[in-house]
Amino acid sequence: MTKTLIIWTDKYSVGYDEIDSQHKKLARMINDLYASFTQGKADEIIENILTEMIKYTDYHFKTEEKYFEKYNYSETKLHKEQHQEFVTKVTVFYDDFKNGSITITYDTMNFLRDWLLKHIQGSDKKYSIEFKNKNYAIPKNNL
Ligand SMILES: [Fe+2]
Ligand SMILES: [Fe+2]
Repeated sequence: MTKTLIIWTDKYSVGYDEIDSQHKKLARMINDLYASFTQGKADEIIENILTEMIKYTDYHFKTEEKYFEKYNYSETKLHKEQHQEFVTKVTVFYDDFKNGSITITYDTMNFLRDWLLKHIQGSDKKYSIEFKNKNYAIPKNNL
């Protein structure tokens, strides 16, 4: 089993540095979670990583959604629904993990990795292409 779940490559870039750096941070957090899981770390440690990951995911989604509103993105509704669906799933998982009724598995880890990478390459690239075509900026100091 490999030690790193997500190996970042340029094919995941959406062409906006600040968005890429947020995505990279999310990937790092998923990798940290994976490392703790494979090393059999205590539930408390895993819970802390999950908490941070959920917080940062919320921050990241809000960043993207702020630009959807600002630039009147054509697929705002669908994209926000995808974010919400992920948040709901992860929150349910977190609550179940916290009360001890479930544990992290390879399926959990694969779900997180697949969701992030598919979402970036599908939905996130869609808005970035639309923004680029219209010369919209995502200024670093706004993030
Ligand atoms: Fe994203
Ligand atoms: Fe997104």
